[in-house]
Amino acid sequence: MATPSHFFALLALTFFSLALAIGNNPLQDFCVADPNMLVNGFACKDPKLVDANDFFFSGLHLAGNTSNTVGSIITPVTVTELPGLNALGICLGRIDFAPKGIQPPHTPSCHRNQGFVHYQRNGGYGSAAAIAALPSQNPGINFLPNTIFGAVPEISSDVLAKAFQLDKKVVMDLQKKF
Ligand SMILES: *[C@@H]1O[C@H](CO)[C@@H](O)[C@H](O)[C@H]1NC(C)=O
Repeated sequence: MATPSHFFALLALTFFSLALAIGNNPLQDFCVADPNMLVNGFACKDPKLVDANDFFFSGLHLAGNTSNTVGSIITPVTVTELPGLNALGICLGRIDFAPKGIQPPHTPSCHRNQGFVHYQRNGGYGSAAAIAALPSQNPGINFLPNTIFGAVPEISSDVLAKAFQLDKKVVMDLQKKF
């Protein structure tokens, strides 16, 4: 026979499974990041202190400076630049390319194709720009040349020479660059 305590236990169980089922949905309308309180992500700023600027970013219309060795630059719009993105699981970036510029091979750690290696190249004669949207509020991006040749502590040049089938001197030259 169902007693009141059974009934409440059942009710609690039902709410628990409901909570599991909708676990990925935001629990609040907004949770503006408080950069001074880092938990897993950012804690919410006091709603009374939230203002329109927390949801505003200006700068995506401006080309980044591509005068660097790879000829590309990322202008990120993550939770760091736009605190209102906190807990929403999205971000944007503008990538500018000089002619022949590249985005070095990389593995975006938040990408759905996690584990895949990506690279981009501007094959044209003029500058180019791209907008990338990523399913994370704070994506990591691992540029492989930096990760491999600039590793700290460094990966033994013997190991890299064998792995890439390169002369050890070439490997040591590469390690100096990253
Ligand atoms: C772009 O970056 C280069 C290299 O750091 C620098 O010399 C140059 O002044 C910068 N250009 C602009 C417009 O900021």
